[in-house]
Amino acid sequence: MRLATLTGETDFDGWRAAARALRQAGVPPEEAVFRVGRSVAGLFDDGLPAPRPDASFHTSRAFVDLAQSVILHRSADRFDLLYRLLWRMKAEPDLIRVVTDVDVADAIERAKNVSRASHKMKAFVRFRRIEAADGERWAAWFEPAHRVLERTAPFFARRFPTMRWAILTPDGSAVWDGDALAFGPPATRDMAPSEDEVEDFWKTYYASTFNPARLKLKAMQGEMPKRYWKNLPEAALIRELTAQASARTETMVGAPATEPNLRLAKTLSRMNRDHAFDEGFIPSTLDELGQAVQTCRRCPLWRDATQGVCGAGAKQARLMIVGEQPGDQEDLAGRPFVGPAGQVLDEALAEAGIDRDDAFVTNAVKHFKHEPRGKRRIHKTPLVSEISACRWWLDAERRLVKPKVIVTLGATAALGVLNRKIAVMTERGEPLPQPDGSQVLATVHPSYLLRLPDEATRRAERRRFVEDLKRVRALL
Ligand code: URA
Repeated sequence: MRLATLTGETDFDGWRAAARALRQAGVPPEEAVFRVGRSVAGLFDDGLPAPRPDASFHTSRAFVDLAQSVILHRSADRFDLLYRLLWRMKAEPDLIRVVTDVDVADAIERAKNVSRASHKMKAFVRFRRIEAADGERWAAWFEPAHRVLERTAPFFARRFPTMRWAILTPDGSAVWDGDALAFGPPATRDMAPSEDEVEDFWKTYYASTFNPARLKLKAMQGEMPKRYWKNLPEAALIRELTAQASARTETMVGAPATEPNLRLAKTLSRMNRDHAFDEGFIPSTLDELGQAVQTCRRCPLWRDATQGVCGAGAKQARLMIVGEQPGDQEDLAGRPFVGPAGQVLDEALAEAGIDRDDAFVTNAVKHFKHEPRGKRRIHKTPLVSEISACRWWLDAERRLVKPKVIVTLGATAALGVLNRKIAVMTERGEPLPQPDGSQVLATVHPSYLLRLPDEATRRAERRRFVEDLKRVRALL
């Protein structure tokens, strides 16, 4: 047996040096033991020589990337699995591409779990405010499923560059002082504050985004696993909101326009003000995009909106549905097409045989443009300059989702997607091939149907709308 001692659970460099030395010394996987701890003699207590440069053996970039993820997995045998792969690669140089191989499949699965844990951390870390003698600080307690703190902390440094924050976890802590990121020792839950005034904001926000008509408990628990609930202020509402879901669905349909939630708007606009807009930031996931849009300053529409509303739905959808801009209810809920136009759209999609859950639904413009009239906020059509400014976000969504077919609802959506004005009534229903291989099909906006004055025209126009959507379905 050869025993290699690594300095930490995520000591990739240590594992790599040990694995190289073991491989060069001809130690087979079943005789190699990795442990984490302190060693007086370095990597090997029993004096195995340090690895030599070896021109005859190269590990591929793909393997290194995979190994760097797998090492963050909490399983105790991850070092062994990686060494077994490395050992086998001497005789099978292309092993890493054989995704049906048991070891390769196992490593890929563990890497996926790690990536999911990092994704969940980005979504579920909740900072709480601490009033310190030298000003405001923020702290969050989080228990990641795998050891992803160091991998994920830079995301928070990019997103919250002007806040001074700490993320405390059982594996270690990350501290951002506004300039540099530092990592420290493990923490315990009682080291982080448990409540603050921002708590109410999260609860209000969650309650307002919770759409009872679209409640799918299983899917919700998949996205927000119960293990994270105890640190999420909004999770306290889940039981209550799900219990009320069917009653709320009935009252939601046909409810009058909602008044803007001033407290929510204030909190979000403070967050907006505090977070610098980084024009060079390229979101690599839809979640990153959804957060980055909150800092958007590409046009002035962010000033009066509660929040930016990006697309929602299937992340790899074959169909993208593009509307104009969030309306009053979407602005509050943070999700597209949840109000009356959304209801018309949902019904027409169902009639055309399209499941909205299979599509990615978004808007050409991400902020609600409106003007106050009494207590109400009245929709205003965005300017061409605003549509053009927002095309950056729409293009990013198109790049990430890669839809095969895009249906545009109304003239603004068509302009946002096609970058040219079209006459919707004459060009509707005809597939327009795009340079990226997708096809665009233009049709009317569902709120156009809601505005038609007489019943007969409304029926006829609704039929045409459903016909257009059936054409979309045929293209899929
Ligand atoms: N109208 C739109 O165009 N988009 C929405 O999200 C809601 C209403």
